[in-house]
Amino acid sequence: MPVEIAPSILTADFANLERELGRIAEADWVHLDVMDGHFVPNLTIGPPVIRRIAQVSPLPTDVHLMIDNPDRFAPDYAAAGADSVTFHLEAAKAPVRLARELRRQGAKAAVAINPATPVAALEDLLDEVDMVLIMSVEPGFGGQSFIERSLGKLARAKALIAGRPVKLEIDGGADRRTTPLIARAGADVIVAGSAVFGAEDPAAEIRALKELAR
Ligand code: DX5
Ligand code: ZN
Repeated sequence: MPVEIAPSILTADFANLERELGRIAEADWVHLDVMDGHFVPNLTIGPPVIRRIAQVSPLPTDVHLMIDNPDRFAPDYAAAGADSVTFHLEAAKAPVRLARELRRQGAKAAVAINPATPVAALEDLLDEVDMVLIMSVEPGFGGQSFIERSLGKLARAKALIAGRPVKLEIDGGADRRTTPLIARAGADVIVAGSAVFGAEDPAAEIRALKELAR
């Protein structure tokens, strides 16, 4: 399977989201960053906006919840039509129950870990999720530089996943320099925000990243 690219709209033009979706048609997912001003020191969008994006997006939606109390709020995003819903392990009180609830609603369930959370914390969740997200920056903002230790984490997560049908995603600081390293470490899905939407031609940038990941 070629590596999939999931552009994050965090760096896109929020006044013209439908047009911005048209610029990333060659991607595999659209990555939607939800921030609540509590789990992270930034605030973005919520269920009503996700619902409209899911309705108009030609790409499947990869919703990344950087929020407190996902046990209470994450199911609202599955109900809003998200194809995949990622919650943070650091914020969830009952991650097994939450993952099961998301899947019951028909969404893919995914779990994310921050840079300082060890990969081993995922071990007992791997049979409950469709994807694992390794954060390669502290969540909250686009355009930060890649934390190099994340490459080792990716490789350890890959080994832990072993033969399970669980995708491995990385988020933060992916660009032309880091993409080949990320792909070699075993990522299946690469989130790229500023690299794609900061480029003159986002479609060409997606093609370049895919090529570099090969
Ligand atoms: C960071 C977000 C990322 C971010 C990635 O908190 O979760 O998805 O938008 O942006 P870049 O690719 O610019 O690091
Ligand atoms: Zn994200």
